[in-house]
Amino acid sequence: MRVPPAKIHIPEEDRKQILAAIDGCLTSGQLTLGKHGAAFEEALARTAGTRHAVATSSGTSALEIIFRAIGVAGGEVIVPTNTFFATPAAVEHAGGTVRFAECDPSTFSIDLDSVRALLSPKTRAVVVVHIGGIITPRMPDLRALCDAAGVALIEDAAHAHGSTLGGKPAGSFGRAAAFSFYPTKVITAGEGGMIATDDDAIDEQARVYRDQGKAGFTSNFHTLLGNNWRLSEPHAIIGASQLARLPEFIAARQRVAAIYDRLLAGTDVEPLRIPAGSTCNYYKYIALPPAGVDRAALKKTLRETYDVGLSGEVYEAPCHLQPVFGPQAAGTLPVAEELCARHICLPVSAVMSDDDAEYVVDSLVKALASQRVGAEVS
Ligand SMILES: Cc1ncc(COP(=O)(O)O)c(C=O)c1O
Repeated sequence: MRVPPAKIHIPEEDRKQILAAIDGCLTSGQLTLGKHGAAFEEALARTAGTRHAVATSSGTSALEIIFRAIGVAGGEVIVPTNTFFATPAAVEHAGGTVRFAECDPSTFSIDLDSVRALLSPKTRAVVVVHIGGIITPRMPDLRALCDAAGVALIEDAAHAHGSTLGGKPAGSFGRAAAFSFYPTKVITAGEGGMIATDDDAIDEQARVYRDQGKAGFTSNFHTLLGNNWRLSEPHAIIGASQLARLPEFIAARQRVAAIYDRLLAGTDVEPLRIPAGSTCNYYKYIALPPAGVDRAALKKTLRETYDVGLSGEVYEAPCHLQPVFGPQAAGTLPVAEELCARHICLPVSAVMSDDDAEYVVDSLVKALASQRVGAEVS
């Protein structure tokens, strides 16, 4: 494909170093919970601006551990409906009940008024998901609201490695944050996750939860209902290598985004603006084509005629309409429903050329024009 939806980039020199380090693990037999995991944790804590970081098997397990550690069982957790399934699922796996909140169209983040309306004596936490890598400027208001209500503010920072608001990095705004290192993310470990927190109790409990709830590595006393949520040393080696590239990857993605911003200015496609005071890692470049555009048909034309793959949406359908969360509630969160159905995500990667970025916008404009002509003819 001339422009794929995303491209994982592990430079050749890094691959050599990764393979040498993995060889060391294979030789020593230290394949999990070793020095590489500890080094990855230290590096991520520095990036997230927190005192602690705990490596886990995935972003999903990082979320579930956080919800278990803060004790959501029997209570409610307010979650934005436009998020990945893992965010609300982790709440329910930890014994909590999800209450879905509306989307703020200016950032695709959770809507402050919706959170205010859903807060109740049963609320244990509010989750902010930094969709596409954008940290909402409403973060201080959300924090104040949570503090006043005595509930935890949790960040799902799966999209937001290295993004900032007011100079503060993603991961440092709430009681705890979950990162993901799934292959499509800005940086990857193959699979993996991380909990970032300043809270000593969450740090301690997370280490117990991720290792089958055992009180210590060599102990056979299970004090918490944990699981095998450990991160292996080979995964930690890949993750640490990628984390060292984060500033460079973000700069490359920002360069692509700047080209999109410039070229889309003369079209009827409206990019989601990065709020003043925020820096975005451009996990996604989110844009709104004119109302009425058939997104599936647009994506098909771009793929088949122009060899361009649009990136996955954030998200194609809101979670409150997913059957697993109960009876369909269509129409109850109309802003999220409309934005989920309408937005597109242009391809971005750390190795995308300026030419390809220009080609994407050119192809998008032509594909939209051909859809308009098709609509007039039929
Ligand atoms: C917003 C969000 N939360 C949680 C997750 C789960 O992360 P993982 O795939 O590492 O379990 C993802 C990643 O896919 C995500 O995008």
